[in-house]
This record gives sequence, structure tokens and C-alpha cells, in this order.
Amino acid sequence: MKKAIIIGASSGIGKGISLELLSQNYKLAISARRKDRLDEIKKINPKNVLVYEFDSATEQNNTLLDSMINDLNGVDMIIYCSGIGIINKELDYLKDKKVNNLNIAGFTQVVTYAFNYFIKKGGGHIVNISSVASEIGNGLATSYNASKAYQANYLQGLRFKAFRMKVPIFLTDVRPGFVDTDILMGNKDKLFWVAPLDKACKQIIIAIERKRKIIYITKRWKLISLLIKILPERIIRLFF
Ligand SMILES: NC(=O)c1ccc[n+]([C@@H]2O[C@H](COP(=O)([O-])OP(=O)(O)OC[C@H]3O[C@@H](n4cnc5c(N)ncnc54)[C@H](OP(=O)(O)O)[C@@H]3O)[C@@H](O)[C@H]2O)c1
Repeated sequence: MKKAIIIGASSGIGKGISLELLSQNYKLAISARRKDRLDEIKKINPKNVLVYEFDSATEQNNTLLDSMINDLNGVDMIIYCSGIGIINKELDYLKDKKVNNLNIAGFTQVVTYAFNYFIKKGGGHIVNISSVASEIGNGLATSYNASKAYQANYLQGLRFKAFRMKVPIFLTDVRPGFVDTDILMGNKDKLFWVAPLDKACKQIIIAIERKRKIIYITKRWKLISLLIKILPERIIRLFF
């Protein structure tokens, strides 16, 4: 039986991935702060779901992962889905810090732990949900886009490291555009190409199965990525 850890599984993409993997008979260890939401997932298959109430913005993700791996008796894949975005027009440092604590510090703790664990184990799969936002700055939510750039760059660095060390550790960087989850804060109708959650999660699962390096969700967002790369900043700045 395959085993996976999903950090940030209480809603949105993390929950959707958890449900998909459960339907594929994975055994899961899932975490987030809202335990009641995690318990709802456990109810679907109590034997195959272990629940951990945890705030990943703390410096203690190693203790969480120690417990999860111990209780699962080993793990094949670790997925980081926790993430927040805050509009910060006034450049309030405390808002940026909140974003950075989860999207940078929490992320780094989880993926470094995962990488070192999989080196010892002889292989494994690390998945992170970054964003198309990783490829461009944002004047309204500067730390969000910058934190996603950090994640994407960090994962690429780990891919290079795995290659150099000749260990079969696969690293999948998932870059969604817009997906219909709580993070959109009710602005769905003002946005474009918003993917239904189940469609997004199905595409993510296929990318994971194929051990893809970078995947755009949905696929059409690759076009936006291309435009970001080729358009001059004097045009791009009108949108961000
Ligand atoms: N939806 C989109 O359009 C979109 C686009 C690009 C990238 N993404 C990325 O996708 C990832 C998942 O977001 P989503 O869209 O699924 O939104 P979501 O429904 O708001 O999910 C966010 C998840 O992060 C968890 N989380 C938040 N703060 C946490 C903390 N301090 N400790 C532990 N977990 C925490 C939440 O759980 P608790 O609140 O229960 O702790 C929840 O499970 C994020 O990294 C986001 O940046 C989303």
C-alpha cells in the first residue's frame, strides 16, 4: 500500500488531492489547523487516514513529520499544500511575515525534512503547490508572489541536487493559475479561467503519477506563463 503525507489538507487543493489519493487506496497522514475539517476526510476511510492538528507556520514541522512517518511506518510521497496570500497594499511588515512564516519557513522545513528522509530511504516523491504567481511580481500582494518564486526556485535547486546525488527523488512543482477554493476569498467572478477544484486535482494527480517536474493547472495557464516571459514589463505592470 502506498503512503503519503499531505500538509494543508483541510480545504481546497490539499483536501481534493487527499480525496483522490484515498480513492486510489493510499494510506494518508494529513495535517492543518482545522481538525474538524480533517476529521471529515477521516470519516470517509477511518483506517487509512491519520489526522494531525498542526500549525505549519511554527518552527516545529520536523516534530510533525517525525510523528507522521513513525505512525505511517514510512512514507513514499510528501505534499506541501499549506499556503496563504494576503493583499498588503500598505506594505505592513507583519502581514508579509505571516505569509513568509507559512509559505517560506514552513515550506522550507517540510521539503528539507522530506529530501533528507528520502535520501536515507533511497528515493521518494516531493510535491509542492506553488503558483503561476511564482513567475511574476505583484504590486498588491508582494510577499505572496515572492514566496511562490522562492518555492519554485527552491524545488528546482532540490531537483538539481537529487540529480547530482544520483538519488531517485522526484520533485513536482504544481503551478496553478486560479482554482475555485477559499484562497480566492469570494472573488471568483472577477477572475478568469478559474478551474473547478475537482478538475484541478485530477490534473495534479495525473502529473504526480507521471512524476512531472513542473505542471500548470489547468494546462492553459502555460500560455500565461509564456506571455509573462515574452511581454515587456511596461505592458505586464498594467495587470499586476
Ligand atoms: N486556489 C488558487 O487559485 C491557487 C492558485 C495558485 C496557487 N495556489 C496555492 O495552493 C495552495 C493551497 O491553497 P488552496 O487554493 O487550496 O486554498 P485553501 O482552501 O485556503 O487551502 C489552504 C490550506 O492551507 C492550510 N493552512 C493555512 N494556514 C496554515 C497554517 N498556519 N498551518 C497549516 N496549514 C495552514 C489551510 O488549513 P487550515 O486553515 O485548516 O490550517 C488549508 O488546508 C496554496 O499554497 C496556494 O497558494 C492556489
